[in-house]
Formats: sequence, C-alpha cells, structure tokens
Amino acid sequence: MTNPRMHAFRSRLGGLAYGGDYNPEQWDRATWREDVRLMREAGVNLVSLGIFAWVSIEPEPGKYEFDWLDEVMDLLHEGGVSVNLATPTAAPPAWLTQLHPDVFPIMEDGRPLGLGSRQHFDHSSPVYREYAANIVTRLAERYSFHPALAMWHINNEYGPTSYSDAAADGFRRWLQRRYGDLDTLNDAWTTRFWGQVYTDWEQIEVSNVMGVWMNPARRLDFRRFTSDSLLECYLAERHILRSFRDDIPVMTNLMPLYPHADYWKWAPEQDVATLDIYPDPGDPGSHISAAFHYDMFRSLKDGQPWMVMEQAASAVNWRDLNLVKEPGRMRLGSLQALARGSDSVMFFQWRAARGGQERFHSAMVPHSGPDSRTFREVADLGRELKLLSPVAGTTMRRADVAMLFDWDGRWGLEDTGRLPRNDFDYCDTVLRHHRPLWEHHHTVDVVSPKSDLTRYKVLIVPNAYLIGDEGVAAVTEFARTGGTVVMSFFSGVVDECDRVRPNGYPGAFRHLIGAKIDEYWPARPGERFTVQFADGRTATASWWREDIHLETGTALATYADGLLAGHAAVVTNAHGSGRVVYLATLLEDAAFDAVLLDAVRSAGVRDPFPGVPAHVECTVREDERNAYLFLLNHSPDMAVTVPLNRPGTDVLTAAPAAGEITLVPLGAAVLQRTR
Ligand code: GAL
Repeated sequence: MTNPRMHAFRSRLGGLAYGGDYNPEQWDRATWREDVRLMREAGVNLVSLGIFAWVSIEPEPGKYEFDWLDEVMDLLHEGGVSVNLATPTAAPPAWLTQLHPDVFPIMEDGRPLGLGSRQHFDHSSPVYREYAANIVTRLAERYSFHPALAMWHINNEYGPTSYSDAAADGFRRWLQRRYGDLDTLNDAWTTRFWGQVYTDWEQIEVSNVMGVWMNPARRLDFRRFTSDSLLECYLAERHILRSFRDDIPVMTNLMPLYPHADYWKWAPEQDVATLDIYPDPGDPGSHISAAFHYDMFRSLKDGQPWMVMEQAASAVNWRDLNLVKEPGRMRLGSLQALARGSDSVMFFQWRAARGGQERFHSAMVPHSGPDSRTFREVADLGRELKLLSPVAGTTMRRADVAMLFDWDGRWGLEDTGRLPRNDFDYCDTVLRHHRPLWEHHHTVDVVSPKSDLTRYKVLIVPNAYLIGDEGVAAVTEFARTGGTVVMSFFSGVVDECDRVRPNGYPGAFRHLIGAKIDEYWPARPGERFTVQFADGRTATASWWREDIHLETGTALATYADGLLAGHAAVVTNAHGSGRVVYLATLLEDAAFDAVLLDAVRSAGVRDPFPGVPAHVECTVREDERNAYLFLLNHSPDMAVTVPLNRPGTDVLTAAPAAGEITLVPLGAAVLQRTR
C-alpha cells in the first residue's frame, strides 16, 4: 500500500530525490547564493536542512532567530530545491546543558557525557524532552506551511543510551507495563539465582557497574527499554509536527544495524525507511554488505521504496584510514541503492566544512570547490538521476528467500554474556548467510518473527539463539506448510527472557530439526575438523560443534575426525510438507555456500541470472507498465559482457540493447523494458 504522504512527496519531486545535508549556519550569505546556484547545476532537488542548528535558531533560552532560516528556506524554494527540514534535537545547545546538566546522558561506566560533540542528550530526561518539544513546536509553527517544506527529518541517528536516574525511572515504568507485578518480573529475570529477588520496584536500577556479571534478562530488557525510550522521543516530536500538518512525511535517519534501536518497531512509525550508509572503499566486499542493508531497509516497510539519506561523495574521515572513492565508485554505489529499491541518493554533506570534527569528510562540493573531480561526478550523477526519474515509486520484485533478522535475537546472542563462547557476531553471521545469495543474484527480503512468511519459499535463520514463542511458531509453521528452513547452529536455545528452553537443546526446534543436542562444543582457537558429505566430498569446519543425536533427522554431513567423528555436522529433516537444513558447525565458505544454495535450489528457487558472474549485480524494479533491469559491474578492473534474454533501452544512454551488453569496470546499465 502506497503511503499517501510519500505519494505526494514523489509527485512534488517528480522523480528520485537528490541532495544532501545542508548546513548554511556554517556559511555566510554570499555562499548561500552560490550554494543554490551549484545545487541547480548538480540537479539537486532536496536538502536536509539545519540538522544540528538548535543554537543558531534558539541562541538563548526562549529567544529565537529565524531570519536566517527564513532566508535560506526562501532561497532554496526560489531555486527549486525542496527541504527536508530537520528538528535540531540531536545537538542541545551549551546553554541548555549549563542550565540543566542532567540533560547529559550517563554512560555505562556511570560518568556523564560532556559537551563538545553532539548527541549529548539523555533520551529519558524530562527536561530534554520538554526543551526538545519546545524547539520542535517553534519550527513547526513557523515552517509547516512554507512552500519549500517537503519532509520532516527528526533528530539525527538517534542515540545514545543512558544509565541516569531518569533512565532508571523510565525503566521501572517500562517494566511495570511489561510485567505488571514483581512476581512476574522475578520469574522472567530468574532472580532466585544469586538471590536477586526484588520486593519493591524502586530497588530496580540501571547501573551497569557490577562486581561480577550482570543479570542477562535485565540487560536484555534494558536494551528493549532503551530502544522504546528513544522511539518515544521520536514519536513525541512527530506528534507535534503532525498536529500542525498531517500530510508531510516524517522520518529519522537510521544507521546500518544500530544496536540500540529495534528497527522493526521504528519502521512503522516512519513514512519512509531511511538509511545512512558508508561502504568502505578499502573493503573489497563492502558493496555486498551494503546490498544486505539495502535489502533490510526495503524490507522494513514491506518492499516500499526507501531512501538513502546519507552517503559519502568520496572519503569519510572517521576511519583510521580514509580512502577516496575512486572515479566511478560513488556513481556505482548510488545506482546500487536504486537497484535495490531506494528512491533517493542523498549525501552527508552538501559543502565540506572548513573546521570542526568533520573538516576532512568529503562533500558534494569539496574544499577544492566545484572545479573538482568530486563535484563533476556529483553533477554527472544528477543528470543521470533525472533520466532515471521514472524509476521513482517502482518496487523490486518480491523475493522467494527471506532472512530472519531479530533485534531480540541479536541482543540475546551478543549482550547477555556467559555463553558457551562469547565472541558471537550476529550481524557478521547474517552477512555470511546473505553473501552467497547475493552472489547468485537472489533477492532477499529481511523479515522479523512477526512478518508474513507465507509468500516465501526459503527462510534463512542465522544463529537464532534467543527466539520468542511467536518466532518459534512462525518458523515451525513455515516448514510445516511446505517452506524450506535453513538454520545455523546455536538456534532456538532460550526464550525471550533468556531462559534455557526445556527438554534438551535446541528446545525450541528439536522437533523441527529432528535431532537433540547433548552439548555445545565450541572449538579451541585454530582447531579444524573434517566434515564428510554423503556424496563423498569433504570440507573443513571450525569454531563450533554440537554433539548431535539424530531423532527423525538424517545427516547430510558427518565429522570424519575428532571426538565427534561419526556425529552429524549438517542435518536435514522433513517437517510437515516442508524441510529443514540445520548447520551445526561453521563450514568453510565453499561448503557453507554449497549447502545453503543447494537448499535454495531444492526449494525451486533458481538463480534468476544464471551465467552472469557473481560480481555483476542484477536486479529488477517495476511498476504495472515498465520493468527496469539494473546491471552493475562491481569489478574495478574487469569489463564484463552480460547476455540479455530480452532487448531493452539503456535509460542512461538511450541506446537500444539486445543480445548482450558490455559493462566497463565499475560500469552500469539500466535497461527499460515494457512488461
Ligand atoms: C553520520 C551522521 C552525519 C555525519 C556522517 C559522517 O553518521 O549522521 O551527521 O557525521 O555520519 O560520515
């Protein structure tokens, strides 16, 4: 279902959104005029304005200076640039923290954050919330009906956590809502262990400074509470904005897989899912992990177009080594986001700052000005995006393969601590499962335990150590009704309160995988095992083993050596009319890929672009009339020729394409075909 606010937004822009964060408060008036001229030259049609400008708008408590912002809004409007106007609440002014030091968040070690950066607000501080509500109200009063206003950008990359007294109050209220009474909470947190039983809500605090280890269920709930409390700040601001005008889309820019916010809860509250993404030009696989994030952001709002809200025009400045994007890489990365469903290409930032923490971060207009490689590439891309206008609003073909990504599961695995091994990386694990699918051109939808799974053929469940009853039921039902589940080790172990599920491991999925696990056997550092498949192939495994005892399942592969020789390492089991493949160890990549892809193939899901090399990304976006085939060559040094099963017209060159098409290194084509 198309969101009417986004529908109106798209009509207003007449195509894809192009632009970036704009901070005119750092520049003089003459520069503003030059900015608008250059924005027109570059094809910019949207800027995110005033993200950190609180003190420029309210230099003293209750004293407002809107003249400069009025002028900028008018200038942009006259220049044909729409505004994604930010609420500046990620940068509380110095006067506010001076007046109310308890606006500062308290860090995990009990110390407050200081002034001198940004995001120094305590999400649970009533004082912060009050002042934030006030500045948002003032902005909404003044600009809700300004003709330049196209979207509201709330805050910026919400965070951080806080362990303050205000957070403790908020946590206790949150727990009361969740558990109702202390008996239920004590049970959920297993507080009889080490005699932690609570007899008064006031005894519950948030300090993370412990002599020995923290109660894992409390830690988990604190994670959930923090995400909800940050979301409350967003919702309070959105409520104010909507009370003035209800037809403007509202969003907040999210980071890739931020640990403190459960995006499944945040996404429904946004008109569009928006992502800030900074693939590392020094990492040869960064476009593959970017593809996962794009799949996730598309999936957050059920396949609707999403938006890249920030990316770098060239280098960032926050890694130890900040490589430039070589010629063509920024363009290719931008087209990749479009290929996977984005309706925008936005940057941090429009003009490179002269001073401050980000003075060496690239920008659409770099320090060397418009006569520069970066600006030329930016302007060229602007022209190409105009050609791609018809792509706006189209959606990607529905995936056959779904990947479970669950914040509860992630927190369980990474944060509760004291597991058989304590170096699990949930996100890396998910990416490891996504890569072979990407290499075979499979679109993957990312799903939560609450998602509708009926439309998928395959469900990938990476290391789902903690999974709630609803998730267990969803995965089990998916297999029972004919789906193929690919699940990796240490899944289904505990419930949503981090309590081990009864009747042997994996309590939640013992019937599903058709096997009981007696013990988890993490491997010693460097330890390797040989695994033998039924067809005689062998492979190396490491990191993790499970002492598996087959019940209804059968072994796809067994250990050929070590104390578990003869035990299953990969299990398959029929369940209802579906099937499960359970990987009980960490297989080397080639063998892992083979198991996963074989399960996908057996489920009737074919590589939609067979014969096209892995480094050529191929996707289709479409509407009722047209399909747009994106072909992206990620190799920086090899041209590639791709066979075409149907002719089309390359939107970027207007050239007809039939039979085959050649892509230069880092080259791309977008073929339009009627459906
Ligand atoms: C983002 C942030 C921007 C800018 C950018 C630099 O996380 O939202 O304000 O700091 O990083 O890469």
